[in-house]
Amino acid sequence: MIYAEILAGGIGSRMGNVNMPKQFLKLGNKPIIIHTIEKFVLNNRFDKIFIVVHPEWLVHAKNLLKTYGLTDERLMILSGGTDRSESLLAGPRYLQAEGLLTAEDVIITHDSVRPFITHRIIEDNIDSVLKYDAVDTVIGAIDTIVASEDGEFIQSIPNRDHMYQGQTPQSFNVAKLVRLFDDLSEDAKAILSDGCKVFILSGEKVKLVEGEVSNIKVTNPYDFNVANHMIEGDKDDQPSL
Ligand code: CTP
Repeated sequence: MIYAEILAGGIGSRMGNVNMPKQFLKLGNKPIIIHTIEKFVLNNRFDKIFIVVHPEWLVHAKNLLKTYGLTDERLMILSGGTDRSESLLAGPRYLQAEGLLTAEDVIITHDSVRPFITHRIIEDNIDSVLKYDAVDTVIGAIDTIVASEDGEFIQSIPNRDHMYQGQTPQSFNVAKLVRLFDDLSEDAKAILSDGCKVFILSGEKVKLVEGEVSNIKVTNPYDFNVANHMIEGDKDDQPSL
């Protein structure tokens, strides 16, 4: 089976003083998370699409699906959110608990706050994870990356040609993700926020898929402004009737 998992369990603390987690804020005429879910619903290769939400926002999320006419039977809301790993593993744990997990299952996991994901990125993730078991979506580093552990002085300036910026989706063979995660030490589990790192820490290969500069993550008010302008731009591109 091919699963999608849209991660919406965060509380958006870097977004500042807003009355709800950023994934529920409106971009144009609908919430960010709705834009994102619509992109996944359009892809008919998915057997099920999990939406992982903080327990306090489960009812709100359910109501949003209704309000925006998202009645696709593949959609399923799950509870997550204590940390990003718990959210990431909500789908896999559900499959385990229901006895549905097989060795071939893959999952395409995506930040709910990256609403500009493209069909091409989703397709490349599906095709690659079926071959390689773990996939990260990246773009070549735009700025020079400077490494500093103390935040005061530079330790090194790695060759920019070998540097990438991580986006999502990150995609995995589900059974392997669960097994490698469960094998990590409690200390490693506690600080983990990135699914691909589970594979890297375990010495496994992670295949790169090309992202897009436009696949931005809404993290703070500045990004939110940029995203609003991008949505307006999209509207201008529509042919007039
Ligand atoms: N996420 C999640 N569960 C968490 C933390 C994050 O599902 N416990 C999701 C967020 O909802 C978001 C994505 O992971 O869609 C990317 O995370 P980030 O931008 O860091 O979101 P927040 O954790 O909500 O933001 P902040 O760090 O500012 O609090």
